[in-house]
Amino acid sequence: MRKVSDTVESVIVAIDGPSGTGKSSTSKAVAAELGLSYLDTGAQYRAITWWMINNGIDTDDPAAIASAAGKPVIESGTNPLAPTISVDGADAAGPIRTQEVTSKVSAVSAVPEVRARMTGLQRTIAAAAEKGIVVEGRDIGTTVLPDADLKIFLTASAEARAARRSGELKGKEASGLDATREALIKRDAADSSRKTSPLAKAGDAVEVDTTELTLSQVIECVVTLVEEKRAAR
Ligand code: DC
Repeated sequence: MRKVSDTVESVIVAIDGPSGTGKSSTSKAVAAELGLSYLDTGAQYRAITWWMINNGIDTDDPAAIASAAGKPVIESGTNPLAPTISVDGADAAGPIRTQEVTSKVSAVSAVPEVRARMTGLQRTIAAAAEKGIVVEGRDIGTTVLPDADLKIFLTASAEARAARRSGELKGKEASGLDATREALIKRDAADSSRKTSPLAKAGDAVEVDTTELTLSQVIECVVTLVEEKRAAR
């Protein structure tokens, strides 16, 4: 980890983009390298989805989701080397990655009451991060933290994204490349077309196409952009 002097001002970095662009790996590594906190907002949307499923809420019924949206207690640990997520005190890190949650998370996260609750939680966590934070998601630069010091929008071709995601799933759940690609495209389309804070690039975000880049190259690129921002202050 680079030495971060106590005199360095806090910095807020928003990293958005569709699935399979290397957002999580990049965000965690950048936060660890720069001594910042880290927040995975997708994990929070997955956590509330998991709670809805466990509590018998019909995830095709936006009104039922809306009236339950305030109930679960979701807590995120922001150490980039060991991030955590819990729901009502129970560790949710494993269960939120199941196929069932993945297939329902877009519908749950499209409900405005869910977004309002998660956005409030995310802003509170970002404000409490003394040295600064890297927050990853879909609407961080546009809605959650529009005043972030640096906004990154990661992209990659659908083929590259499907190949990466399918590599991550290997050994966990059987999923062919074509099925993964189709599921990714479907989820991105749902996330991009919803009415409330869709997946979108902020006007002042720096777009980084990761298709031809290694993870280390993407990390280096974002670390350099953060350091340039700090130097320009
Ligand atoms: O990053 P992920 O694949 O774990 O995110 C899961 C889902 O959560 C994603 O399909 C859309 C939703 N999400 C969102 O709506 N807004 C965010 N800021 C982060 C994730």
